[in-house]
Amino acid sequence: EAPVDEVIAALAVDVPDFPTPGVLFRDLTPVFADGPAFRRIVEGLASPALEDPRAAAVAHADDGVPGDPGFDVVVGVEARGFLLAAAVALHAGVGVVPVRKAGKLPRERVAADYALEYGTASIEMHTDSLHPGQRVLLVDDVLATGGTLAASVALVEELGAVVTAVSVVVELAALGGRDRLAPHAVHALWTT
Ligand code: PRP
Ligand code: HPA
Repeated sequence: EAPVDEVIAALAVDVPDFPTPGVLFRDLTPVFADGPAFRRIVEGLASPALEDPRAAAVAHADDGVPGDPGFDVVVGVEARGFLLAAAVALHAGVGVVPVRKAGKLPRERVAADYALEYGTASIEMHTDSLHPGQRVLLVDDVLATGGTLAASVALVEELGAVVTAVSVVVELAALGGRDRLAPHAVHALWTT
């Protein structure tokens, strides 16, 4: 069986100058459309504790219960993160909570502004969507500059929950997102 990074690299499509000149866009839609590849991705995203020593230390610090995935809930980032987070949550047997673009959530919420590789945006979570001490696996498709996930971490922590690990399908290493998220562990299935 091919390593998961090779599976992803073989199916991803590079699109130069999208959505703006100078950006090399890694299109993952063909990866998610492939059944076996999607299954490998979901399993990989759900297993940061197996491959990341820091995540493993957090995951097993308080209980060590057999079958404990190391997190109590999956938080997914709109929009592409939603495709992954719900599948990961189902696979792990936990619930899923959305981080949404501004203006979509109807009730009391917390918000964070951030800069994207292209443009700026604001994201929000419902105030009651996480509980203090809850262990969170944060999931998105791409780690680029890290602005989106750093803002997501800030929201999760504002609600008193604990980010056990951050899982992404692709890490664009040249953009430095991993450093921006430190000391949080980033589990990337493909680093390029
Ligand atoms: C993309 C991607 C990540 C983020 C990565 O989402 O899905 O969420 O950008 O970039 P960063 O690390 O520099 O923050 P986008 O905002 O394009 O929204 P979409 O998922 O709705 O397409
Ligand atoms: N590809 C896909 N999504 C992205 C990228 C990229 O290069 N940069 C930010 N989000």
